[in-house]
Amino acid sequence: MPAARTIRIFDTTLRDGEQSPGASMNLTEKLEIAQTLVQLGVDIIEAGFPIASPGDFASVSDIARAVSAVTVCGLARCNDADIDRAWEALQHAAQPRIHVFLATSSIHREFKLRMNEDEVVARAVAGVRRARNCCGDVEFSPEDAARTEIDFLCRVVEAVIDAGATTVNIPDTVGYATPSQMHHVISSLRERVPNIDRAVISVHCHDDLGLAVANSLAAVEAGAGQVECTINGIGERAGNCSLEEVVMALRTRRDHYAVDTGVVTQRLVPTSRLVANITGIQVPRNKAIVGRNAFAHEAGIHQDGMLKERRTYEIMRPEDVGLERTDLVLGKHSGRAALADRALALGYQITPEQLQTVFERFKVLADRKKEIYDGDIAALCEQQFSTLPEQFTFEGYTLTSASGSPPTVELRVLQNGEPRSVSVTAGDGPIDGIFLAIEKLTGIQTACRDFRVQAVTVGKDAQAEVTVELESTAPDTNHQVHRGRGVSTDSLEASAKAFLAAINRVALGAQPRIHPQRT
Ligand code: KIV
Ligand code: ZN
Repeated sequence: MPAARTIRIFDTTLRDGEQSPGASMNLTEKLEIAQTLVQLGVDIIEAGFPIASPGDFASVSDIARAVSAVTVCGLARCNDADIDRAWEALQHAAQPRIHVFLATSSIHREFKLRMNEDEVVARAVAGVRRARNCCGDVEFSPEDAARTEIDFLCRVVEAVIDAGATTVNIPDTVGYATPSQMHHVISSLRERVPNIDRAVISVHCHDDLGLAVANSLAAVEAGAGQVECTINGIGERAGNCSLEEVVMALRTRRDHYAVDTGVVTQRLVPTSRLVANITGIQVPRNKAIVGRNAFAHEAGIHQDGMLKERRTYEIMRPEDVGLERTDLVLGKHSGRAALADRALALGYQITPEQLQTVFERFKVLADRKKEIYDGDIAALCEQQFSTLPEQFTFEGYTLTSASGSPPTVELRVLQNGEPRSVSVTAGDGPIDGIFLAIEKLTGIQTACRDFRVQAVTVGKDAQAEVTVELESTAPDTNHQVHRGRGVSTDSLEASAKAFLAAINRVALGAQPRIHPQRT
């Protein structure tokens, strides 16, 4: 294959991705995602917005110390306090980058910043200069670039490159752009900004119109050298450009784009599963690349074609994104080695101690269901990776219920290792009764914003995977949303585990954070 331009993949799952409502992650979870992103082969990890909260600061600073193979980036507004705080967090990174941003569109200048064009240019230049005094790798983003007048955008970009920006990122902050417009913006910058060759052009698209990936691809076609994206496309509102989609589009249509990325595509599915598991934001079945149905052929005519020659209906091979074709794998008599093998093939690198726990849970599961599928093994491994400290741990329940009358639930949990139980007769049905019992026992009141059940694999004995989204209703918690997930062959048990997982997050409390775009 002829040599091609390499597109840098800038992952912002830990920063913009974390701006998805309810997606906040703790320090250990962020470190785990960062290590996984390194294995995935991204070039830059945006680890957070250090001034936003002590938690954000700690995560950028810990990731900066822990990760040396890739660039670690921290976000800052164009002011001294933000930039100094970002540098404080990044100073120990092997490859630090400060990302400064300032809105440039007329609507933001007039209503949010109350600044004229000259003042915006001066502030942007000052921010970039201050960041360059700290570190040699500085990215500048003209926020809402896609709605900025092109003449003014060219002026800002030229000024920040002169001030020392090494990457200029073009955000479509509100997901308003179309592919041809994005192509035009990037082409115009390349044609009209005299010093553009001294910086990498980047693109950062939101998905409000479902065009984030298409707009990013159009930018690459027009000459952008960096794409900002998130795993599973999570992010503010409708989300960001999905990393797995843009990477696989570039790879599958290399004939068209003639570019490469450094992403190890076989790690896409395991990384997607890890992020879904940690954030609680589940991937829709029909999601491109990593959705459960992405490689499932239903129509008989397709299946027939596939058997004759898979390329008739398959433009990518499942194994190229980390999906194995074999699905039915293990059973009651399978041993530890077979389980370790399968876990590794699915992308889970587990330590011998973790394998011991996963194996014990596997044996319990194998007693409950005959056939253990890849999805079951993934769920077992993911439980092992869930590192949040638990104040309340599910032990069991006893339930009597009949249609038309409230159920009686006796719930047993461990609170910091001590057994506790409660009994309630209340609720519209068994699940409501269990949730009310948990609230009574923990003393934590929440509003349930979402409740979902899906089967992990197939068959009547499939494990149920439940996700719940709870809004904290206590004062001073800012109505923060917390997610929890539970898996079990018993869907009531899965519901109880999911509800308790979310309650544990509420109990840990959430730190107040500054939102980068709301101040
Ligand atoms: O969407 C946006 O404009 C951003 C910037 C901070 C780059 O996330
Ligand atoms: Zn963004």
